[in-house]
Amino acid sequence: MVESTTLRDLAIFTGYSHIGSCREFVWIPGDVIGRKQLPSRFIIRGLVCEYEVEALMIRKDLYLRTEAGKEYVVTNFQITDINDIENIGGVAENCSLLFEKFPEMKTISDGERVLVSKQTQVMAFQAMSMVINQVKAGHGIDPKGAREVATMLVDEIIKAPEALMNLIDIKSFDDYTFTHNVNVATLCLIIGQSLGLPQDDLFDLGLGGLLHDMGKLKVSLSILNKDGKLTDAEFTEMKRHPIYGYEILCRSKDIPERSRMVALMHHEKFQGKGYPKGLKGDSIPLFGRICAIADVYDALTTDRPYRVAMAPHEAMKIVTSGIDTQFDPKVLTAFLHKMSLYPSGSLVLLNDGSVGLVLKANPKAVLRPVIKLLRNAKGERIKARTEVNLLETKNLFIAGPASRTLLNVTAGAKVI
Ligand SMILES: [Fe+2]
Repeated sequence: MVESTTLRDLAIFTGYSHIGSCREFVWIPGDVIGRKQLPSRFIIRGLVCEYEVEALMIRKDLYLRTEAGKEYVVTNFQITDINDIENIGGVAENCSLLFEKFPEMKTISDGERVLVSKQTQVMAFQAMSMVINQVKAGHGIDPKGAREVATMLVDEIIKAPEALMNLIDIKSFDDYTFTHNVNVATLCLIIGQSLGLPQDDLFDLGLGGLLHDMGKLKVSLSILNKDGKLTDAEFTEMKRHPIYGYEILCRSKDIPERSRMVALMHHEKFQGKGYPKGLKGDSIPLFGRICAIADVYDALTTDRPYRVAMAPHEAMKIVTSGIDTQFDPKVLTAFLHKMSLYPSGSLVLLNDGSVGLVLKANPKAVLRPVIKLLRNAKGERIKARTEVNLLETKNLFIAGPASRTLLNVTAGAKVI
């Protein structure tokens, strides 16, 4: 029998969003019988939820912080017994100290560079936790931590001007509420850099990206996480979040006006018809036009309670269909220059019917990465390692994404 561990007096976070507290969290590791690992269990005692318990149930991972400041992450967390609110039970994969072991952190294969370092991500996690609690307590924001994170993000992005954005670079934490703001800030900075903005501008843009959706904290969770169409009244309330966000940032010191405007303007559309003001073209501040693209792209490529994430190329198709209408074409072009449509690890179908695995992007030609061939044009498996740099092999090009099932085909279909 494995011994249980009891953690006491904890604040509970999902991502950076504070959910409540509990008196005890009892972790009971699963026994190992022979070679079989039984599931690990947990009991939450004395839970005080700020929202509904459902807010906990839709989460995959959970973060716990003790009064003494130690932080834990519980991965693949699932509540199975909620009959007795004093003893909520469930199963989870792992419970470990955040800094010692952080399974949600990405693993980067050899040769691939890390765009946003683990240190910055953990800093961002902590800074956003603080900000969110301040907003929920009805205070203005003390942006010290967020300013530090913005500086770190800018530094990392400036260090790698040639880097292409791979989806994996920014999908390290599971929780949408946390990842979305950090992802959007990162994407904003990549677009800003592609547009040649100076460092001071990038800082204000990054800070605005980190704080762009704070207004959502004033919208009820039942609207934010609704599985289905919003009613007119709910949609009207949802559309107020840029104003709520701007107001929160106006009550906060040390946040430049142009960073605040990111919160107010990130849902405006280039040809009008956006919200809250329905502004058009250049009357929408540049930072707002940048954040609009970052926001939509990140939302499309992330799993949400009501839908599965799209692949990058699908999201890109949707984003590019908004050129001239939803987005500023100049800003969108800058974004496209930096994004990798087929990130490392994607399966691609080539024009001769062969199938390959993307190994490395070519920064100067997003559609011509280095690939490893897995199946030849006849659909036969290629056993020897065969790498092809599509930048140098002009007769081959990517026809589209390949599904995993294509790896089992026996005859390759020629694509014209
Ligand atoms: Fe928003």
